[in-house]
Amino acid sequence: MPDNLPPDAALAVTDLSFAIDGIRLIHPMGFKVRRGRRLVVLGPNGAGKSLLLRLCHGLLRPDTGQIHRNDHHPAGRRAHAMVFQTPVMLRRSVFDNVTHALAAIGVPVAQLKSRAVEALNRFGLIGLADRPARWLSGGEQQRLAIARAWALRPELLFLDEPSAALDPSATRSIEAMLGDLHAEGVTLMMSTHDLSQARRLADDVLFLASGSLVEAGEAQRFFNDPQTAQARAFIAGDLVW
Ligand SMILES: Nc1ncnc2c1ncn2[C@@H]1O[C@H](COP(=O)(O)OP(=O)(O)OP(=O)(O)O)[C@@H](O)[C@H]1O
Ligand SMILES: [Mg+2]
Repeated sequence: MPDNLPPDAALAVTDLSFAIDGIRLIHPMGFKVRRGRRLVVLGPNGAGKSLLLRLCHGLLRPDTGQIHRNDHHPAGRRAHAMVFQTPVMLRRSVFDNVTHALAAIGVPVAQLKSRAVEALNRFGLIGLADRPARWLSGGEQQRLAIARAWALRPELLFLDEPSAALDPSATRSIEAMLGDLHAEGVTLMMSTHDLSQARRLADDVLFLASGSLVEAGEAQRFFNDPQTAQARAFIAGDLVW
């Protein structure tokens, strides 16, 4: 574990900010993601949710601040993985999308097949294993993206709007999967602008608006007793920009 990561945290962020072309898109913020919890990043379109997740996963370099997380990837595992708002599928079969991700992290060839079968079974995709991944429906692709990330056995999983644009039954099935991952002890940090989903899933909430962290805390407290006018307006369904 990194020295500066508190023992109860899977991620700790201090003084984080980010700019593009001199425009500050993430204003200085700090927070922790508690180990084994489901942290939901809430906020209207353009609030900075996707940028924050990319920063936390290490895909973007912050301008200021530190992101402390476990970056020790044991053989055949990733400490952290990410599922994107729009699934990124390789021009290969469903099965090969998983084996390719596993091979990329050094899983031995002899284990690739069994690990991919395990992941596809786990997420109800084994029947589609030979199909080109890009032929799958949006909901199926999102499920494959989660299966592929799960196959990496991460302890911390970032998910950016994992059920945006899915129908209610696909959304339910994704939520059930996230519930199972949580029960297995995986720490989840996910964004959504779907308030009812956040109420169903969140243990903790980060509420962003215009690139600033406006409120952070336990979900029940956030929904029952929001502390800021912006959060109250958001919860009431009045969009804040
Ligand atoms: N590469 C970029 N160059 C310039 N501005 C950007 C870039 N990426 C994001 N932004 C801006 O940063 C802000 C935050 O974007 P972000 O994608 O994080 O929002 P979001 O909260 O995820 O929104 P949504 O709910 O629509 O997914 C937006 O105003 C966006 O226009
Ligand atoms: Mg986004």
